[in-house]
Amino acid sequence: MSDSPVARFGVITVSDRASSGVYEDRGGPAIADYLAEVVTSPFKISNRLIPDDVETIRDTIIELADQEACCLIVTTGGTGPAARDVTPEATELACEKLMPGFGEQMRAVSLQYVPTAILSRQTAGIRGGSLVVNLPGNPKAIAECLDAVFPAIPYCIDLIEGPFVETNDTRFQVFRPKQK
Ligand code: MTE
Repeated sequence: MSDSPVARFGVITVSDRASSGVYEDRGGPAIADYLAEVVTSPFKISNRLIPDDVETIRDTIIELADQEACCLIVTTGGTGPAARDVTPEATELACEKLMPGFGEQMRAVSLQYVPTAILSRQTAGIRGGSLVVNLPGNPKAIAECLDAVFPAIPYCIDLIEGPFVETNDTRFQVFRPKQK
């Protein structure tokens, strides 16, 4: 268990166009808003806005995990089938373990919202004490996907010896099979 009461969260927007200023990043702020809405224990967010480049994404995940000690790193964008969509590959390169249930659950729930949910290859994985979760780039997908998996995230962070993350029950109730 970490001694620090302040959880560190990483938020990575992966987008060639947002990172080059063609349009505004709406995904990163939507993730920050979501975390502010549901997490009641203290936390601090480190944001990154980067292009769809596999090495840049991999290195940014590694930096947020190893240097910034983020227990949770959420990416948005780059999960689809297009040539420049490489966020899942970068996540696999950065992580020691994959957590395929996250992608399976998010796609299953997302099908209730969009028939194109299966076009996302979003996955999740563990690097040291960090859980990395991919979300699609559509800002609307952020709450749709996080609502589907967040009930399991605090216990996952417990299992990788991160801080005790507490949430309110406005959107969902977290499940911890064993309390610390
Ligand atoms: N999932 C949810 N919940 N909501 C969405 O709007 N968009 C889909 C899919 N998953 C979507 C979704 C679409 S249209 C695509 S192409 C893929 O996510 C990949 O999106 P990305 O390349 O921006 O990551």
